[in-house]
Amino acid sequence: MRLSQATWLELTPNLFYEVMTAHGAGMVGISGLAASGVIWYFLRRYVDLSVGILWTNLAFFLLGVVLILGGIFLGNYAGGWTFLFPLPGTSAGVWGPAGAASYLFGLLSIGVGFLLLYLDFARAIMARYGSLAKALGWPQLFRNSDDEAPPPTVVAATMVLIVNIAGILSGAVVLALILVNLFAPQFAVDALLTKNLTYFFGHVFINATIYQALVAVYEILPVPPRRHGFLGGAPGKRARFGSPALGGAFAGVGG
Ligand code: HEM
Repeated sequence: MRLSQATWLELTPNLFYEVMTAHGAGMVGISGLAASGVIWYFLRRYVDLSVGILWTNLAFFLLGVVLILGGIFLGNYAGGWTFLFPLPGTSAGVWGPAGAASYLFGLLSIGVGFLLLYLDFARAIMARYGSLAKALGWPQLFRNSDDEAPPPTVVAATMVLIVNIAGILSGAVVLALILVNLFAPQFAVDALLTKNLTYFFGHVFINATIYQALVAVYEILPVPPRRHGFLGGAPGKRARFGSPALGGAFAGVGG
């Protein structure tokens, strides 16, 4: 794409936007899958996650990739990864409804897989900690509870599951609306509502990849600095500052 923008490589505008759509969706999808893999791996140290759901997510993801690539390179869909309304249905003849529908169903498939994964996070965390508030460390943060705080990975996973379930549901709603509009254009869609739902889904999803990958830092960073009290713990004791403070930070950023 950069070569084409520098006029070193000749790409037709349609092909450029097809490549850009595949690049955007591909980068976001790969980041999301990789980051969820990181947090899944570490979260499993504390709660009983389902391996079957992990594989199911991968299957939905791969099905989505096939549908997305088919929609783009066979169906010529080139509306950008954010599928902004009214682009999917208003292609000025560049692509047909089949290409757009394949792309949108692909995203929907990936969303269903991730939704199952985060619902499994919620099930396992609530089974172990009793409630999402406890898993966020709120009793320690707001009620001076002396109970042991949840580990940072659990705090991060809880925040991520809350925002991502909301974001993915918002994405599913907007995808369904646009799919209906694609085949029944008389079904009017509110452009502003559609944009807000799309951006809520897209920004939350890509933003949450940061927190999911970040848990690797908490899990892999050597323990000695904590032992020496750099993170608020007394020398020789495990610091207890991390979880509630992180819970507040995550809750703030997530909100
Ligand atoms: C070598 C690294 C990369 C290069 C050269 C590159 C290049 C590009 C180019 C040329 C565009 C088209 C829009 C523009 O001209 O600004 C683009 C769009 C985009 N890129 Fe990248 N990119 C790279 C890495 C990434 C990474 C790592 C991500 C995400 C993790 C990413 C996500 C996106 C997204 C979301 C879009 C918008 C697509 C759309 O609107 O449909 N890119 N990139």
